[in-house]
Amino acid sequence: MAGIARRWERQGRRIGVVPTMGALHDGHASLIHHAAAENDVTIVTIFVNPLQFGPTEDFRRYPRTLGRDLALARACGADVVFAPTARGLYPPGFQTHVELGALAERWDGEWRPTHFRGVATVVAILFQLTRPTTAYVGRKDYQQACIIRRLVRDLAFPLTVRVLPTVRERDGLAMSSRNASLGPAERARALVLSRALRAAAACIRGGERRAAAVASTMRTVIRRAPGVRVDYAVVVDAETLEPLTLLWGRVALLVAARVGRTRLIDNLLVDVS
Ligand code: PAF
Repeated sequence: MAGIARRWERQGRRIGVVPTMGALHDGHASLIHHAAAENDVTIVTIFVNPLQFGPTEDFRRYPRTLGRDLALARACGADVVFAPTARGLYPPGFQTHVELGALAERWDGEWRPTHFRGVATVVAILFQLTRPTTAYVGRKDYQQACIIRRLVRDLAFPLTVRVLPTVRERDGLAMSSRNASLGPAERARALVLSRALRAAAACIRGGERRAAAVASTMRTVIRRAPGVRVDYAVVVDAETLEPLTLLWGRVALLVAARVGRTRLIDNLLVDVS
């Protein structure tokens, strides 16, 4: 992979890279389409990264659909799919990790303490190997997208990060590889996440400026669904991810909840005048 990417780099080709963990869906398809339209060559990476799963998380259950993924990546315009093994990326003796700051401490960072360290480490390795001119990530993983942008800035990776909007099912459910783990009843219950975000946005449009009241609206909507447990439902500054008291400027509504055994996240950006 490194040989191919360096050759393309020497030839002055623009390289679009879409890092993924596979189980590709229309959200990934949108990223790959953008990468293919805006670059000379497009690389999709597929790697279920053990470093970003905690010991009690769903690493083993995480959907793996490489055959389908290859077909989808090709149909969307990918030139190369890079699907390394864990031993290939982390050979014996591997011991270096990216240490993160405040952006990774709250929210998912609190619930999944080693998660973002694993994400940042693998993304740094993947960028070294694939040499992106532009990397494409989805806004659905909002905190992750902020952290990858910060990583690229702080460690001076010579690339641009494009964060593209969340792709949703017709009924509002944010597309996620984990949706495949939901049974039909859970799939219906999972809609409370996007419903909660819309209710919160309506509340802000109606003039509410107290973050606590907006957050409480989200929690109330989510708790109405049986079998759904809220990890967090918060209103934060869209840049720093710090919690807010009064809403002003660009704010991010962030929710995470467990639907049965499946943990889902979603978010919405709102500009508050
Ligand atoms: O969002 C994902 O699929 C993963 O966290 C990423 C960015 C590919 C790193 O493993």
